[in-house]
Amino acid sequence: MMKTTFYDVYNYPDGSDKRKDYWRFHLGKHMDFSKLKGKKILDVGCGQGTISKILSDAGADVYAIDYSKVSVEHVKKTYPKIKTQWGDALNLKFSDNFFDGVVSIGVLHHTTDTYKGFQECVRVTKTGGIFLPMLYTKYHHYHFLYKLTWFLRKNGRKAEDIPRIFIKGIRKLTEWYYKEPRTDKDAVHLIADQFFTPIAKFYSKRQVLKWGKENGLMFLGSSMTFFGEHRIYNFKKVAELGNDKK
Ligand SMILES: C[S@@+](CC[C@H](N)C(=O)[O-])C[C@H]1O[C@@H](n2cnc3c(N)ncnc32)[C@H](O)[C@@H]1O
Repeated sequence: MMKTTFYDVYNYPDGSDKRKDYWRFHLGKHMDFSKLKGKKILDVGCGQGTISKILSDAGADVYAIDYSKVSVEHVKKTYPKIKTQWGDALNLKFSDNFFDGVVSIGVLHHTTDTYKGFQECVRVTKTGGIFLPMLYTKYHHYHFLYKLTWFLRKNGRKAEDIPRIFIKGIRKLTEWYYKEPRTDKDAVHLIADQFFTPIAKFYSKRQVLKWGKENGLMFLGSSMTFFGEHRIYNFKKVAELGNDKK
């Protein structure tokens, strides 16, 4: 059943050109955009569609799902070419081996069962296809920052309850960084995503490579994003495992 989720209220900001360039750069380390034409790619947890749009611009046939109906409506309206639907990363409504590639950027660590989400992404990827999840890194600065700010999330506090001066400060900082106007609401949504998100889990590279092995994936490489709080993994599906072996 569709219920109101955290990201319905604090939907992730739509991608400015700078954010799109940022992701083109990081994903470009692992996928050749010139070879995406006609490829069926699924964006799991598409948010406001930044990643889907980049892939679609490169000629991929993009499918996108998200748990937030507000985000899904936004992507449907803004990027009609993308095949967008409401969906749960832990129970994908696609048949096995359906996609040439699956990407999931900053999503599975916000779910109740990251490993189940990982397995679902692998299930819908064709043998020979690619799977690129991006997950929070364990023992990096953001891991500590999230844990140290537990008191912010105590007693149902909300991002908008933090002092205006911080909200204004974050707004100015993001305006400077993205070189475009931002609203206080954008700043609140960003603060919410970073410090008020109800579930944030952190994974070591070792752990994720173990999951890859268990699920018939070949590890092709990984890289961290600029500040190191995320790692993008590049896997190729090389073996089809029976459900009993998963
Ligand atoms: C931090 S945002 C990232 C959005 C997008 N991937 C991007 O990078 O712009 C996390 C997204 O994951 C979605 N999400 C969280 N749990 C989910 C689930 N179980 N199934 C599908 N989407 C989920 C949220 O609704 C939200 O849009």
